[in-house]
Amino acid sequence: MQQVIYVLNGPNLNLLGKRQPEIYGTETLADIELKMRAKAKQQGLELDFFQSNHEGAIVDKIHEAREMAAGIIINPAAYSHTSVAILDALNTFDAPVIEVHISNIHQREAFRHHSWVSSRAEGVIAGLGTLGYLLALEYFASMPVAGA
Ligand code: DQA
Repeated sequence: MQQVIYVLNGPNLNLLGKRQPEIYGTETLADIELKMRAKAKQQGLELDFFQSNHEGAIVDKIHEAREMAAGIIINPAAYSHTSVAILDALNTFDAPVIEVHISNIHQREAFRHHSWVSSRAEGVIAGLGTLGYLLALEYFASMPVAGA
């Protein structure tokens, strides 16, 4: 059976491409999903791609991942900096978590320098644009398949 990787996107990322393109670029979330699906296919991974502007919906999706996913790639967006609920949910998830930020949060306003999610993440990719999502997928592709 193919391993499923959950790709979770937080608030305002549905507006990628239109939202502050000088910071986040011109690619849309649909563009990112397309590229990730193509790469996942090559690597024999299945994706569950999700975006929500609601904290509780992201928490619910992480709970679902507990039963379904071999890993999580998450861009929690603004919730990175505020959400203990998302951190707590991720702490109930046993497989690896990779946190992605399109922009380099450490070069930006001080309130973006801390992410609650980072303490749970196996790895954090920030500032490489949307390539960060594909690099996160590469990490999962490079991992030995459980039970193999
Ligand atoms: C972001 C960075 C966050 O600070 C911001 O709130 C976002 C996007 C990024 O991908 O660079 O919405 O997570």
